[in-house]
Amino acid sequence: MTMTTAANLRPNIVLIGFMGTGKTTVGRLLAGRFGLAFVDMDDEIAARAGKPIPRIFAEDGEPHFRAMERDVAREVAARRGQVVATGGGVVLNPDNVRDFAASGLVVCLTADPETIVKRVSGDSTRPLLAGDRDEKMRKALSLLEKRKPLYDALPHRIDTSRMSPEGVASAVAALYDDRST
Ligand code: S3P
Repeated sequence: MTMTTAANLRPNIVLIGFMGTGKTTVGRLLAGRFGLAFVDMDDEIAARAGKPIPRIFAEDGEPHFRAMERDVAREVAARRGQVVATGGGVVLNPDNVRDFAASGLVVCLTADPETIVKRVSGDSTRPLLAGDRDEKMRKALSLLEKRKPLYDALPHRIDTSRMSPEGVASAVAALYDDRST
C-alpha cells in the first residue's frame, strides 16, 4: 500500500534529455533534496522485461522497447511526488511528453556532442550508441540532429556541459521552487 504524505502529493520533476546529459545522476540528487521518490524509467523497463536494455533491443527490437517505454511513461505520469529520469528517446512519442507535462515540471537537460561521448565512453548499456569513440560520435550526431526539434520544443532547457551535477540539480530546484510558490 502506498502511504499518502505531503511529499507524494507534490508535482513530479521529470528530467528529459539525450543520453549522457546527466538525468539519472541529477535526478537522484533532486529526489534526496526534496524527499521525493526516484524513478528511473530504464530500470523500470528492464525489471518488467526481466532483461537489460541491450537485450530488449537485440531480442525484441526497438519498437517493442518503445511500446514498453510508453506503458511505463503513462503509469509513472499518473503518480505524483517523484523525480523521474526518463530514457533519452522518450520525446519520440508526443503522448509521453504530454502526460509528463501534466504531471509536474519537465526539464530538458542538454550537453554538447563531445561531452556526451566523453560521458558515455566505456559504456555498453546503450545500444543506440554502441561502438568505439568514433562510432559513438557518429551515432550521437545523427540522433541529436533528428531529435533536436523535439528537445528544443521543451520549455525549460539546461546545458549541463560545463556544470557539476550539484549545479544542475540547483538550477532544476530553482525552477521547481518557482513553480510551487
Ligand atoms: C535511449 C536512451 C536510453 C535508453 C535506451 C534508448 C534513447 O536511456 O532508454 O537505450 O533512445 O535515447 P538514457 O538516456 O538513460 O541513456
